Amino acid sequence: MNQDYIIPEEWSIVEEGFDKNRVESSESLFSLGNGAMGQRANFEESYSGPTFQGSYIAGVYYPDKTKVGWWKNGYPEYFAKVLNAPNWIGIDVEIDGEKLDLARCKEIRAFRRELNMKEGWHRRSFEAVLQNDAEVRVDARRFLSLEQDELGVIYYEVTPLNRDINIVFHPYVDAGITNEDANWDEKFWEPVETRFSNREGFVVAQTFKTHFRVATYMHNTLFRNEEELALGPVTTESADDKVQLSYEVPVKKGEKASIQKLGGYTVSMNHDKDKLIPAAQEVIRKAAEKGYKTLLEAQKEAWSRIWEMADITIEGDVKAQQGIRFNIFQLNQTYLGKDARLNIGPKGFTGEKYGGSTYWDTEAYCLPFYMATKNQQVARNLLSYRYNQLDKAIENAEKLGFRNGAALYPMVTMNGEECHNEWEITFEEIHRNGAIAFGIYNYYRYTGDYSYIPEMGLEVLIGIARFWQQRATFSKARNKYVILGVTGPNEYENNVNNNWYTNYMAKWCLEYAAEQVEKVKEEYSEDHIRISGKTGLSDAEIQRWKEVAEHMYFPYSEEHGIYLQQDGFLDKELIKVADLDVSQRPLNQKWSWDRILRSPYIKQADVLQGFYFFEDHFSRSALEKHFDFYEPFTVHESSLSPCVHSIQAALLGRMEQAYAFYLRTSRLDLDDYNREVKEGCHITSMAGTWMSIVEGFGGMRIKDNILHFSPKIPGQWEGYSFKINFRGQVLKVSVKSGGTEFVLEGDKALTVAVNGKQVTVEPGNLVAI
Ligand code: BGC
Repeated sequence: MNQDYIIPEEWSIVEEGFDKNRVESSESLFSLGNGAMGQRANFEESYSGPTFQGSYIAGVYYPDKTKVGWWKNGYPEYFAKVLNAPNWIGIDVEIDGEKLDLARCKEIRAFRRELNMKEGWHRRSFEAVLQNDAEVRVDARRFLSLEQDELGVIYYEVTPLNRDINIVFHPYVDAGITNEDANWDEKFWEPVETRFSNREGFVVAQTFKTHFRVATYMHNTLFRNEEELALGPVTTESADDKVQLSYEVPVKKGEKASIQKLGGYTVSMNHDKDKLIPAAQEVIRKAAEKGYKTLLEAQKEAWSRIWEMADITIEGDVKAQQGIRFNIFQLNQTYLGKDARLNIGPKGFTGEKYGGSTYWDTEAYCLPFYMATKNQQVARNLLSYRYNQLDKAIENAEKLGFRNGAALYPMVTMNGEECHNEWEITFEEIHRNGAIAFGIYNYYRYTGDYSYIPEMGLEVLIGIARFWQQRATFSKARNKYVILGVTGPNEYENNVNNNWYTNYMAKWCLEYAAEQVEKVKEEYSEDHIRISGKTGLSDAEIQRWKEVAEHMYFPYSEEHGIYLQQDGFLDKELIKVADLDVSQRPLNQKWSWDRILRSPYIKQADVLQGFYFFEDHFSRSALEKHFDFYEPFTVHESSLSPCVHSIQAALLGRMEQAYAFYLRTSRLDLDDYNREVKEGCHITSMAGTWMSIVEGFGGMRIKDNILHFSPKIPGQWEGYSFKINFRGQVLKVSVKSGGTEFVLEGDKALTVAVNGKQVTVEPGNLVAI
């Protein structure tokens, strides 16, 4: 049974009723972020029940020394940790001498949380009866400003319900925090300095080893019945890593005592490391001038600008609507594309898992979403991120014995260095290199901006091609090139030979790189001279790439008429997932690893991932055959999986199945399909959810510089619409059961193909088909 406590609403995520077993899941689901920082929806007041505390700052990480049972040569020195950052949200609340703690109250009534996605804020309210019989209503609102991304705002209000009470608010900033995930139980933060005044507190701390320095700040304003109080703290406490200011507000029954807390971080990535407190004071000054209401208005406006471009509407299906908006909201909370040093972590700002921020997820899944819903520069920033890390990818390949500028991009990274240390992934899950080349191809296909390739992309393609050429070995027995000892996208198989997806990717990369070298030589000769000089590329080397590509081996079954996921796949006991007892799922929580490895079960799209990337290379009937063969063995225990199957099911006209996969991808976290949402949300796969509507149901593709659509609609929906930014013009597509409408916000006519037929959309005119 999946979780089903989230109340379906079109624009909000809502939970009603307090259940301590749901606290950690809700902490993930109600997370906030603004691209620069983010946090789990931890309570402001102290909570002694099970909780997973997490605040995060984009780009700030800790290189946690590798811990393995047995060291293998080539292992990275460290596993980057997504760092739990100092806490700025904390406000302990004392009522007539007793701490408010939802785990210890006699009674909790009317508990409600809302994450308002339209306007970008979180609100939690409840009534509680404390052990001392004081009854209070609490209303706590907060948001992370998009406008000033170093700023968070809390408005926390307490109303006594049964008697006059004395409230003491204890707001604090605290760098004495730890990570859930730490290899050696070490502290990651070193305190540097604290400072405070009547209303403000600062803790400056820096990370060990990486020396990111951060000032965590707060600025407090107290109110009674919304009237500002000129109160100073009754006590102040400061340790070397914490500042707490305590304000006493006596209130009569029915009156309101409130605290507005401005807080957040200034970081040495963006400021002089010795001037972080003045920088924070400047943020406070600007924000305090505006006040809560004005800041909230700006927040609503900033989110409305995002939604204006990124929203997808679904009519007639509230759960599906809530699902897609949740995905779009979380993606925008995680990454806004303003800073080419940042990337999109699989858990965003919602948890620590997966250390590091950048996986192949970015190129394989996230790029299309950002290309279509933001301007082109955002996608270019994602690509340049890899270009800027090319030297590290070359070093990484050298550590594994590759030469001559071969580049192996890391499985996961923060700064370009590999941070993953399971041998079957670090050394073997090399298909990731292909996704990076595919991202370049996809960027050009979508934006038409070729300039990226001569400027930066070609060097990346050369490094990647060199890697594949050296990684493939010639098998005399097969008279073909083979790629041995790999892990494909399906991580439920390790150390296999000739994973079809990997071999196909390798062949494609080699050919694509060779073609681009040719094209740059002809059309951008200066760049070609520069790059050839820098890389020492010769015609003979390109010949070798072509030779490997041309003679690549692909495992194939004549009997089934399909490519095999890897050598020997058919030796497995081919029992379909549908025939497994449900008590055995998810397999990764129920089965031993060796049993998983021997089984035919597929964690995530593997062969089908290749069919997704290279759809045009295969006939529809070939796709159908492969889909019918592999789908029944796929357990979708990676969040990256159902979206690919949804797109393919839609292409094959299997709308019921496409819809079921869509729900699974879009509500993966809301309904907690994989029973792990308390660790954080699956941010990168959320871009896959977007693809399953736009590419799946909408059938959007780009072929020969033209947008193609083949709109379909699930029976459960009355209609849906989405917008895309295609080469500087915005096209709105609305699909209803009766037909599809296009409206162009742009200045030149755009020709699109609908079910194969070309139509021209004039700016401002509605075209109905
Ligand atoms: C998936 C990988 C993915 C990673 C991060 C793993 O579970 O198998 O494909 O890159 O999660 O999302």
